[in-house]
Amino acid sequence: QHPEVERLLQAYEVTAKLYHFLLKNTEYGKAAMEYLRSRGFTDKIIDQFQIGYAPNRWDTLVQFLEKRSFDFAEMEKGGLLSARHEQDGYVDRFRDRVIFPIWNRNGKVIAFAGRIIGEGQPKYLNSPETRLFNKSRTLYNLHQAKPAIRKLRQAVLFEGYGDVIAAWEAGVQNATAGMGTALTEHQAMMLKGLCDEVIICYDGDSAGQAAALKNFPILENAGLHVKVGLLNEGMDPDDFIRQYGSDRFKRQIIDGAVSTVKFKLIYLRKNHILLEEEGRIAYSREALKIIAPLSSPTEREVYLREVSSEVKVDYETLKQECNLLRQSLQ
Ligand code: UTP
Ligand code: MN
Ligand code: MN
Ligand code: MN
Ligand code: MN
Repeated sequence: QHPEVERLLQAYEVTAKLYHFLLKNTEYGKAAMEYLRSRGFTDKIIDQFQIGYAPNRWDTLVQFLEKRSFDFAEMEKGGLLSARHEQDGYVDRFRDRVIFPIWNRNGKVIAFAGRIIGEGQPKYLNSPETRLFNKSRTLYNLHQAKPAIRKLRQAVLFEGYGDVIAAWEAGVQNATAGMGTALTEHQAMMLKGLCDEVIICYDGDSAGQAAALKNFPILENAGLHVKVGLLNEGMDPDDFIRQYGSDRFKRQIIDGAVSTVKFKLIYLRKNHILLEEEGRIAYSREALKIIAPLSSPTEREVYLREVSSEVKVDYETLKQECNLLRQSLQ
């Protein structure tokens, strides 16, 4: 390995240890610790995910790295320090933030996500892309989730660090996440190398639902079977687990995950008023576009019957229209 990569790995490792220590064992970390506790993070989870705290100072890490003879310019390039504006020198990049280390698939820390304590912008400050950290090739927690993903032949894909952590604690250990809702072909292929099925479990807000929809083809094109865990509007998996507990999460959201077709129909339905004739007609038309391309006659029938009862149109009528549409697609 390149010596610069080696040094940066070393720097991330010792910095993660420092932040974790500051959170757990010092006065600096007190407010951050209270914040984490108020959100339900236990000591065990804080250790397991090596959560830390970067103090509200400009030179905590500068001094720490200096003592260990790391090169500042190199550490700036590596995303741990920032160059000062309009003068020489460097300052800590992460200040007054809860630190979530991000690992590569071998369990080496390659980046940090720093969450602000309470409200504020940006909510998460992340490491920039470096020689170590390529966002589009990183999946959060993959090093810990790998055995469970392989064993179950299934991964659960979340959008947030907190969701992965809450799920893990709830006993869902095949839990991973992209760096937010973006998902790349490369990440999909990484998952395909470990399993056959992915349950997308994004936030129940419109951003999460739109992102789920956007990621179906990326996962499906990698050869993965996709299902979706459905959350109530305005809730994310972390919130759900804290509010309703792990059993209900596993039963309702994971075991109750729906097919992508079902999800698309649910998503579509939100935009139509089924109490009105025009709404029912428009919904049927769009629903048929989702159902007609399905190659399995059984699948088509199952979904057509559902739509049939929703829009109060005879199944045979819908089937006829569906077949017409299929012919025009061929
Ligand atoms: P969310 O806004 O859903 O945050 O973003 P969250 O994970 O639920 O965070 P909490 O519970 O409020 O602490 C989902 C993910 O998008 C990325 C992060 O990976 C985050 O976990 N994100 C979000 C950022 O990178 N930067 C941001 O400012 C916000
Ligand atoms: Mn520890
Ligand atoms: Mn979100
Ligand atoms: Mn969220
Ligand atoms: Mn959250």
